[in-house]
Amino acid sequence: MKDIFIFSVETSCDETSCAIIKNGKEIIGSVVLSQIDIHKKFGGVVPEVASRNHVKNITIIFQELLEKSNMKFEEMSAFAVTYGPGLTGSLLVGIEAVKTLSFIYNKPLIPVHHIAGHIYANNLVGDFVFPLIALVVSGGHTELVYMKDHYDFKKIGGTMDDAVGECYDKVARVMGLSYPGGQKIDELACGQANYKLPKPLDDNSYNFSFSGLKSSVINLIHNEDQRGNSINKKDLATSFQKVIVDTITKKTMKAIEEYNVKQLLLAGGVAANKGLRNKLKELCKEKHIELLMPPMEYCTDNAVMIGIAGYYAYKKGIRGSLSLNAISSMELK
Ligand code: KG4
Ligand code: ZN
Repeated sequence: MKDIFIFSVETSCDETSCAIIKNGKEIIGSVVLSQIDIHKKFGGVVPEVASRNHVKNITIIFQELLEKSNMKFEEMSAFAVTYGPGLTGSLLVGIEAVKTLSFIYNKPLIPVHHIAGHIYANNLVGDFVFPLIALVVSGGHTELVYMKDHYDFKKIGGTMDDAVGECYDKVARVMGLSYPGGQKIDELACGQANYKLPKPLDDNSYNFSFSGLKSSVINLIHNEDQRGNSINKKDLATSFQKVIVDTITKKTMKAIEEYNVKQLLLAGGVAANKGLRNKLKELCKEKHIELLMPPMEYCTDNAVMIGIAGYYAYKKGIRGSLSLNAISSMELK
């Protein structure tokens, strides 16, 4: 069988990234240029600054990738790109670059949903066993997705307000931790869970709501500050993380049971969270569920995951045209 090489591009937020993926599994090469240091001083991603930096860097990383992979654009089977959700100006940089390549080399253009990419990062560690449940936790998403086949997504629940990563980042900011604070809270979460925090939405649905929890942590910090008391950051991080992890894992395990699946995939930037990874490992072992988690470096945004998802989209016949546009907000499909 002829090998399929996908050249993939991801520019949905503040990482400029490209990769070459062979047959949906093998990383031939990958380059990720993070803009975190640029945005850190603003306390979050500034969209205009992000897109300008994508423009500045995109051709440089393409060149670097081809050189280190020892491959040429002519050898690619198709060009895949994230077309949403994300920051419109940032997405457009990747989309226009890939449209140009697809036109020049006369090869298919594959539009990839960013979350499909996060889910497919798991293909690096194992084969998907259907039906399965994917738990997607990132800066923009908290979702439970049911898949009965490759590239067949059905959302069964999602966030009603803040995404979990967003909630981590906002709490971290008030705790005086630098952007993006999710990882810093995770590192601090090795104390005692002795701060009393409210329980987020705990109903029969698969929906999530973390904004109340976020507000109460922020209020708690402000109140203690006004009283002149200091916060035990380790204990607060531990208490906050425990509530999040308990809430997410409870609903996820319920979905696994109800949908009678044997495999769980963890996906998105917050998949790097040690507390969440450990708790899911423990619960899945207990229930004999196979758990796939992406390698740490492929949890946050990267083009490798887009190239893997792009391969399955390619096999399914999904094609984009030269009129492909960025879509800042859209359901997984
Ligand atoms: O998937 P991602 O790179 O971007 C989006 O698609 O949103 O996720 C970034 C998010 C940020 O909110 C970041 O704080 C969070 O993932 N994150 C973490 C950890 N590492 C990254 N949150 C909690 N614990 C971590 N270890
Ligand atoms: Zn992402």
